Amino acid sequence: MTTPVANHWSDRLPPALGRGARAVATTYSRWYNRLPLSIGRGIHRLAIASLITQSILIVSGGAVRLTASGLGCSQWPNCMPGTMTPTPEMGIHGLIEFGNRMLTFVLAAVAIAMIVSVWRIRRTHRTVFWLSIALLCFIPIQAVIGGITVLTDLNPWVVSFHFLASIALVAVATLLVNRTGRESRGEQLVAPGPLTGTMRSLGWTIAITSALALILGTVVTGSGPHAGDPSSPRHGFNLYLVTRIHVVPVYLLVIATLLGLYLVFRTHAAPALKRGYLVLVVAVLAQGAIGYTQFFLGLPIGVVLLHMVGTAFLTAAATNVWDRSTGVVPL
Ligand code: HEM
Repeated sequence: MTTPVANHWSDRLPPALGRGARAVATTYSRWYNRLPLSIGRGIHRLAIASLITQSILIVSGGAVRLTASGLGCSQWPNCMPGTMTPTPEMGIHGLIEFGNRMLTFVLAAVAIAMIVSVWRIRRTHRTVFWLSIALLCFIPIQAVIGGITVLTDLNPWVVSFHFLASIALVAVATLLVNRTGRESRGEQLVAPGPLTGTMRSLGWTIAITSALALILGTVVTGSGPHAGDPSSPRHGFNLYLVTRIHVVPVYLLVIATLLGLYLVFRTHAAPALKRGYLVLVVAVLAQGAIGYTQFFLGLPIGVVLLHMVGTAFLTAAATNVWDRSTGVVPL
């Protein structure tokens, strides 16, 4: 790993350049030389902030749907014709949907702060840098998908896609937390080696079954009563049947997680992987219990919202175990 050196842009400029360009280069140079040369606690905290804010977006999107505020702003990017902000006539639904839209700016601020913090070490910490770039680039894409959701009157397939894009962002933020945490603690590896083929296979099984449970869950939602607006279209699938299909990968996930937990403790695996499995067991069992509770209680909005909190938690926990047991994503 090479150490980035102080950068004096103003020294490298052709002498023919004017004073303005020289002043800009000097300012950039001063600013650049103040940026961190390694990943410390500050950068790790920013990565954690990304993970938390991306998870909050999932829950706030859920609150929009469950309070039937999905069309609280009838337009996009304007809230309603001629105005970007809600008017008093739009009531609480306008405020809820507008609040959800505003969260985009908080996410963008955290993502920009992350990129600025790792700018000076971008060549020595390529994965951290590109994961940070991915987080920032995804935010406007996600905002546009949100716009398409509104313009299609909350078509359930588009709503699913919007939700799953947020899930992908939570996964990316988790990878960032693992890498920044590793370096801020002075550890050598994210995936504690050597990894056995069984641990790798279990890591992949956990990733695939979690992804299937998440995708199929959105089909259940699209068939259920919480459309986001009373006038919005529904899939029309049998709710009981799609729920049963949704829980098939959940059972496989439970089996893979318990097997992985048993193996990491039997083979004295690295503490980080043991902790990862313990957190995953809690996430899977809690999410399963909430899932059944909401189903048998007839989908009360408080419990459904808890199930959405659980999706963010489970995504982070499963991504962490996959990351630590496969080592696919470089440092
Ligand atoms: C690891 C376990 C689980 C995961 C990751 C998971 C994930 C999800 C996801 C992502 C959604 C869609 C959320 C949305 O589109 O807003 C969902 C909805 C749903 N899930 Fe699960 N789920 C799990 C377990 C269960 C279990 C065990 C049940 C039991 C019956 C269940 C029942 C439901 C129901 C009924 C819905 C529809 C809620 C609605 O209408 O809004 N889930 N789940």
